[in-house]
Amino acid sequence: MITLNINGRDMQVDADPSTPILWALRDNLNMTGTKFGCGAALCGACTVHLGGAAIRSCVTPISAAVGQKITTIEAMETDKVGKAVQDAWVKHDVPQCGYCQSGQVMSATALLRTNKKPTDADIDGAMSGNICRCGTYQRIRAAIKDAAKTIA
Ligand code: FES
Ligand code: FES
Repeated sequence: MITLNINGRDMQVDADPSTPILWALRDNLNMTGTKFGCGAALCGACTVHLGGAAIRSCVTPISAAVGQKITTIEAMETDKVGKAVQDAWVKHDVPQCGYCQSGQVMSATALLRTNKKPTDADIDGAMSGNICRCGTYQRIRAAIKDAAKTIA
C-alpha cells in the first residue's frame, strides 16, 4: 500500500510504486476527471498538480508523489483560483468535445497561481503542452485573461 495525499486527503493505493499517477487516480481510486490521451507526456490531457506545479500524470510514477500533495480537477470547484478558471471556462464556452479540458483547466490554474497577470506569451508558454484537437485555443486565452481579472 502506498499513501498518497490527494486533494487534501490521505488515500491508500494498492499499486506498484512505478504505476503512473494517472492510473492510480483512474483505476485504483475511480477519480476519472483526469484523462488519458497519449500516455507519453505529449498532449496534457492527464495534467494534475504535484506540489502546486502542473505535471503529466501519465508519466509520473506514484513513487514520485509520496510525501507531496497531488491536486486534481475534482478539487478545482473549491479552489479559489480553480473556481475562477472554471467560471471563466463556462462564460467563454471554452469546451468543444471537452476531452482535453480538465488538463487545460489544471494548467491554467497552475499558471494563475504564479502569474496574476499573464501576457499572451505567458499563456502560450504555460499552455503549450496542452493540445486541443478541437482548436479552442483562442477561447482558452480569453478565459484565462478573464479569470485573472476575477482573481485580482
Ligand atoms: S496522456 Fe499524459 S500527456 Fe497525454
Ligand atoms: S475541446 Fe476537444 S480536444 Fe479540446
